[in-house]
Amino acid sequence: MTIRDNCSLADRNTFGMDIRADSLIDWASTDELKNVLHDIEQPILMIGGGSNLLFMGDFRGTVLHSTISSIEVIGGDSDHVHVRVGAGVVWDDFVAWCSINGYWGVENLSAIPGEVGASAVQNIGAYGVEAKDVIDTVQTICLADGSERDFTNAQCRYAYRQSIFKNELKGQYAVTYVIFTLSKVAQPKLGYGAIAQEVERLGGPTLENIRKAVIAIRESKLPDPKLLGNAGSFFMNPVISEQEFNIIRSNYPDVPSYPAPDGMVKVPAGWLIEKTGWKGRSLGPAAVYEKQALVLVNKGGATGVDVKRLADTIIEDVKQKFGITLTTEVNYI
Ligand code: EPU
Repeated sequence: MTIRDNCSLADRNTFGMDIRADSLIDWASTDELKNVLHDIEQPILMIGGGSNLLFMGDFRGTVLHSTISSIEVIGGDSDHVHVRVGAGVVWDDFVAWCSINGYWGVENLSAIPGEVGASAVQNIGAYGVEAKDVIDTVQTICLADGSERDFTNAQCRYAYRQSIFKNELKGQYAVTYVIFTLSKVAQPKLGYGAIAQEVERLGGPTLENIRKAVIAIRESKLPDPKLLGNAGSFFMNPVISEQEFNIIRSNYPDVPSYPAPDGMVKVPAGWLIEKTGWKGRSLGPAAVYEKQALVLVNKGGATGVDVKRLADTIIEDVKQKFGITLTTEVNYI
């Protein structure tokens, strides 16, 4: 375990903002976290790879980060494998490990920034797959009393980019391990737009080719946070009623959409933002990425306030034009 006081978080958030925390604790095991819980300064902020955070200023409290880095096979049968993965494992290292070992389920989630613990909190998703599709159990520690608690998939109350850990139990449980159920039998999911085409070009739907295809598509659309600070999708794709959707479609027959639960319709926020004219435009040192309007970037020296000002302006303009209120996927701290 390492404990650092008055510590910079510049390399702990993918917007690359140089803010500080009163204390930063990297804990490497369940016992280490339990031992340190009694005497840490409140409030507490739990972070993973910092790929979904926008700091509005210094954090006056304790930042907790897990470095549990094991990946172990704990069971399975002829068709499936159960894998227990430490919260601090880099998500894409886990995906690469699955690809090498021939385990199907997470290949469409290749190259998503962040760590395994946060994947279970955010229910990360891409190209027709969400973390919830492969999560069996989320193992946690209760910050209030140090007790261990396992959440089944159903108890996590997963929905699009939502879980119990972002809502009812926000900030209350630290993820230690996530148990995934993966398939030993090929299960390519190629339904999402460009993937099938790219996989075909690479020679067919092997695990490796799907991983390569997803990485290539992401690289062509999304900025590398090491080169240009960003947090992936800044907004969630709004889910609206069919009635609201039909009104938009009557004015814009080409509006893209995906079916959502309960007869609702999901509309790409990137499309809505592009239609307001914001794609590629800047407001001070914050900008809308030129190849994907859902991504806000730090052109250099932007503060959380700068990025929020841009986000608020976009929300206002989308509201004016379409009557839809965008909500952020990024968490303001
Ligand atoms: N579009 C535009 N203009 C844009 C961006 C998108 O018109 O600037 C339209 C296009 O018609 C495109 C459609 O929106 O066909 C969908 O775009 P894309 O495939 O890029 O996906 P998205 O809906 O914008 C979501 C996730 C991404 C994920 C992709 C692929 C959310 C909030 N975002 O984006 O997740 O990679 O689908 O599955 O659901 C993330 O969460 O950080 C993230 C990158």
